[in-house]
Amino acid sequence: MNPQTKIIRYELEANLFDWEIAPGKVIQAWGYNGQIPGPTLRAKVGDTLIVRLKNNLQEPTTIHWHGLRIPADMDGTEEVQAPVMPGETFEYRLELKDAGTFWYHPHTNETVQMERGLYGAIVVEEVNPELVFDVERVLVLDDMKLDKNDRFAKPNWFLPRWIERHDGRQGDVRLVNGKQEPVISLAAGQTERWRIVNAASARFVNLSFEGKPFQIIATDGGLIERPVTVTELLITPGERVELAIGPFAEGEEIKIQSLVYDRGSMIKTKEILFATIQVGAAQTSKASMPIRMRNIAPLAPADAAPTREIHLSGKRTWTNGVDFMINNHQHLHDKPVKVGELQIWDVYNDTMMDHPFHLHGFFFQVLEINGQSPEFISWKDTVNIPRFSKARIAWLPDQRTGMWMYHCHILEHVEAGMMAHFEVAA
Ligand code: C2O
Ligand code: CU
Repeated sequence: MNPQTKIIRYELEANLFDWEIAPGKVIQAWGYNGQIPGPTLRAKVGDTLIVRLKNNLQEPTTIHWHGLRIPADMDGTEEVQAPVMPGETFEYRLELKDAGTFWYHPHTNETVQMERGLYGAIVVEEVNPELVFDVERVLVLDDMKLDKNDRFAKPNWFLPRWIERHDGRQGDVRLVNGKQEPVISLAAGQTERWRIVNAASARFVNLSFEGKPFQIIATDGGLIERPVTVTELLITPGERVELAIGPFAEGEEIKIQSLVYDRGSMIKTKEILFATIQVGAAQTSKASMPIRMRNIAPLAPADAAPTREIHLSGKRTWTNGVDFMINNHQHLHDKPVKVGELQIWDVYNDTMMDHPFHLHGFFFQVLEINGQSPEFISWKDTVNIPRFSKARIAWLPDQRTGMWMYHCHILEHVEAGMMAHFEVAA
């Protein structure tokens, strides 16, 4: 082991508590260590995290470490561990192989536990002295569906359960780091690094800063090769991005919005506000970004022959309104893959709505979507597959044998069956 690397310990207690999302507006939350989001777990690449989970909920739970390349038995699904019962503890050991922004959340009763606030960010810092920002922030985005008494809204006659199952649960209360539509103050003349996590159950965030340009510097699996300038960016549930924001001029006030994006849900979304930036007095800047931040070697050419086809589909039913499937099965057990055999998967979305496809434990590269290669190469663990589309992804199973998963990251769709377990076999 490199003598520079450390073992860092965290205790996470899953609790029920009151949480103030806005002055006087208190919800009955579930979360880690009495806060939403839970504490940001921070380390350097190469370090090891030892995280002890204590379950103080009244139901079983687990923690999944979304995006970390850890052994299968640490992945937190009920396929690889017994759920942690109320009052019990479990210790996770996580060797951090990759720098980037990751997150943690239960893989048990997700539609309730994650909606209530059980999630948090993981920051793994890279060693890259040329990449310097004035300020770094983590922004965990969420939306909650509350009733007029600030309780978690139950489906009702106007909004029956099957619509929530179909669309995924979307709320009118938008949170950034557990606070409703906060104001973010930053200094004029400075450039900040924002690590963004979409922790919402189903909300697609089509991020915009009132049309002002910003730069993408990283995706799910860490830095991209060079910064990419955009004016809006779709971040689907489960995805992370890192952005370079600013510099802005003193006195500017900029809305952080999610623009309209039609993902095929029955309830259409409007343009909505997540937070407001207020730019204060100028401060000197030491920010610098190299032109080339990293090299990413392609895993396969775009026309590589697929090794597997995956079909995401849905069907109407009398009992549930709608069921979701993978290769015509709810909660599929898919065929194993072999260590060292390059996987080229064609993921077909045969439905009328978009699905963010997430692979546990391994990063993939998107080779193409509907025959088009992506604008830049990056490591991903979650990618949106637009309705009636096909994405071709490539990934390499390494020595970490065991049971893994892939699924849609709309939590109600996982519950409704759009998920699969499969084995990485020696
Ligand atoms: Cu964040 Cu199985 O997912
Ligand atoms: Cu879905």
